Amino acid sequence: MTLEGSGANQASSVGSVGSSGGGPERLQLWQGRFEGGPSEALQQLNDSLPFDQRMFREDIAGSRAHVVMLEAVAILTTAERDGVLAALNRVEEELVAGDFEFAASDEDIHTAVERRVTELEPAGAKMHTGRSRNDQVATDVRLWTLAAIDEITDLVRRLQRTLLGKAEAAGDAYLPGYTHLQQAQPVALAHHLLAHGWMLNRDVDRLADARRRTDVSVLGAGALAGSSLPLDPSISQNELGFSGLFDNSLDAVADRDFVADTLYALTMIGVHLSRIGEELIIWASTEFGFITLDDAFSTGSSMMPQKKNPDIAELARGKGGRLIGNLTGFLASVKGLPLTYNKDMQEDKEPLFDAVDTVRLTLLALDGMIGSTTFNTDVMAAQANSPYAAATDLAEYLVTNGTPFREAHAIVGEAVRNALAGEGTLAELVMADERLGPEAAAILEPGVSVTRRTTHGGGSPHAVASQLERFRQAISPHGS
Ligand code: ARG
Repeated sequence: MTLEGSGANQASSVGSVGSSGGGPERLQLWQGRFEGGPSEALQQLNDSLPFDQRMFREDIAGSRAHVVMLEAVAILTTAERDGVLAALNRVEEELVAGDFEFAASDEDIHTAVERRVTELEPAGAKMHTGRSRNDQVATDVRLWTLAAIDEITDLVRRLQRTLLGKAEAAGDAYLPGYTHLQQAQPVALAHHLLAHGWMLNRDVDRLADARRRTDVSVLGAGALAGSSLPLDPSISQNELGFSGLFDNSLDAVADRDFVADTLYALTMIGVHLSRIGEELIIWASTEFGFITLDDAFSTGSSMMPQKKNPDIAELARGKGGRLIGNLTGFLASVKGLPLTYNKDMQEDKEPLFDAVDTVRLTLLALDGMIGSTTFNTDVMAAQANSPYAAATDLAEYLVTNGTPFREAHAIVGEAVRNALAGEGTLAELVMADERLGPEAAAILEPGVSVTRRTTHGGGSPHAVASQLERFRQAISPHGS
């Protein structure tokens, strides 16, 4: 039976709710204690195979480590260990090749692998010695999460490199910087692009932090309380390459903080990508015209022939909501759970998997979109050259001549008001004002204002040069 055909989670068999639908085929793990088989409804609700089968590599890795440990403490003979390891290899091959036959009794990937190993090798029946699915699943999810964190970190780095490349190529180009989406002060385009790059750097940091807490071995905690058998959890820890080892078996099987940490890190990436997406949408609008999207990364309209739509950016914006849902939904599922394992915790996987899949795809698509976007720097400059965008520079000019800032603000504000009222251009009014004059008016010349904010981390092309260097360092493999 294939996974798709197993009937798990399929509405078609819900008709038998309440009946004992499992039949003799559905031999359960706990059959010794039960007289009847499980109902169809229980199976459908209970089974996690449809979504946890993607952890098969991790499950097999965990079983290998456990079997190696069992032999090291003389619970398995060397021959038994080798037989089980060979069977595990075979099962992995079958799963990779897609010809693993799932059985109706396979409740989850753990039971599926164990069943098949035992079919292939009688000593497989000893594989679960001293182990529970509680420490097993926690181990699997940790291993899966570690790999996912590494993959997503690489993709974030990739987007950062794309932003860096665009920032380097931007040279001295500049655009209006905004607050309240109102033109504020001109900034170098590289400065703006790097702002997103630094946001993503904090995401890499958060992922590393989540990784640290994920990187703990919990195999050997048993169902909840350890084991009466002479297990040595440090052996499976070393086999699996985990940096840390659990201290408390109850906490080990009940802890899903690492899932929450990872979901939060992923959600913050989603929030950041939504902000990048929103800017791309605005910048691509006819009204702004700051960027031209590549055809390969934009869509058309089924009805309006002239349309070129920034769907990727819109999806990046929309997926943020989905990620927030995954995080909050998961937290709601684990809130208030008594120690230790509760089946509610099976609800950790779907939000986690979905969040990783969502962030992976969004990062890839946005990376391609940004990498292929043309920046219309002449349009940006034309907007940034509005004399009003240099108003703060005029006030600061007055400050350097000894005028208190509040007073300078009022003087320039009045000139702006008069210019807007049609009494003359701002340059003319500045020129005519004896407190300002020609030196101040020169600040209003196109391209001058942006060069003036040269302070550390500021928006002038000059200040950005050293920032670029710091950013290169930060994202290099040897950087922070
Ligand atoms: N499929 C389960 C999960 O994902 C595995 C653990 C089951 N443990 C148990 N005590 N029933 O959480």
